[in-house]
Amino acid sequence: MGGSVLTLVDVALAPEAAFEALLDEMGLALGDSGMEFDSSAARRITDQGVVVGEVREWKPGEMVSFVWHPKTWAKVDSELVISFVPHEGGTRVSVEQKGWGKVIGDEGGELLGWFTGEVVAPMLWASAPTRLGDWVTDRGARRPSGRRSRDVYRNPLYHWPNFYVILDVLALRPDDHLLEVGCGGGAFLHEALKSGCRASAVDHSPDMVRLASEANEDSVSAGRLRVMLADATSIPYPSGSCTCAVMTGVIGFLPDPLRVFGEVYRVLAPGGRFVVYTGAKTLKGTPAAPEPMASRIRFYEDDELVALAQLAGFSVAKVEHPSLYEGAKRAGVPEPDLPLFKGTSGSQLLVATKSPGQ
Ligand SMILES: C[S@@+](CC[C@H](N)C(=O)[O-])C[C@H]1O[C@@H](n2cnc3c(N)ncnc32)[C@H](O)[C@@H]1O
Repeated sequence: MGGSVLTLVDVALAPEAAFEALLDEMGLALGDSGMEFDSSAARRITDQGVVVGEVREWKPGEMVSFVWHPKTWAKVDSELVISFVPHEGGTRVSVEQKGWGKVIGDEGGELLGWFTGEVVAPMLWASAPTRLGDWVTDRGARRPSGRRSRDVYRNPLYHWPNFYVILDVLALRPDDHLLEVGCGGGAFLHEALKSGCRASAVDHSPDMVRLASEANEDSVSAGRLRVMLADATSIPYPSGSCTCAVMTGVIGFLPDPLRVFGEVYRVLAPGGRFVVYTGAKTLKGTPAAPEPMASRIRFYEDDELVALAQLAGFSVAKVEHPSLYEGAKRAGVPEPDLPLFKGTSGSQLLVATKSPGQ
């Protein structure tokens, strides 16, 4: 009895595309748990720097197998095989840990205990509403990743109206140094950099940092832009290094917005301006903020936004409700969706300034 563990999923992608996508996703997902998938020549998987998987066979579009070293404290190996088999017009992707029974041992139901606790229960948890709602929110907006999000954030059409409004207020000049917190795929940065300014950005999604850097490759290589993977509560740029800052579509996801405002305040030079765009409570449950995201977003009253800015130290702070309609037309939002941008009650634009004397 080998005690193999097998999981599988049927997807609509062709085998070659499924192969490529799985390995890309695997690299990102393993990174979240401190593991690393080195897909370059060595093709190894490490856990906290220790090699746990070494490629045995690598056949793009068909399969990849690893010799797996699950224990540093005992010499026992298994084999991990990921296969891609054409199935009903798409691909059946299976992941099998062969010889897993040898690793766990099967006395007294240990193998079943491992399988239930480490595979079955996490699968039930992942497919129940709480975790699934979190996953959908993260995947699409709170920490975007995956091909679909990359396509959206490469050119987020429905965010351009906000971008135009923010750019109007910031009125960037070549001697500005802009900080963007939660830059997503870097579309706003790309437009902002046309002013001749420099920019520094952060995002906590590795996929978005990669995309924003690629989308602004020229500015990055010219030394006009740096994009770093970081949480907004700990911005890796020097105090007083930026003349202005922007955060759009981000504040609703922040567990500790005051700490983030404090960080932005620190990075801004005296006289620096800070613009925050967010959707107002009226958007909750509409196509702009549908479930399950809506109940995971924090919406603010105008005076709460002003209070946050003041508590963080900004001397001037006010909230405006700009119209996004003209911007939506200019961006090319399809006609049937234009009514979504009518009226001004859905938009909140906080404009704050750090006192020139600070
Ligand atoms: C809805 S997207 C908006 C992206 C971009 N600003 C735009 O308008 O297209 C929110 C972005 O904020 C980032 N973000 C959310 N919370 C963050 C945090 N605590 N630290 C850094 N980035 C964060 C997400 O990864 C995501 O890229």
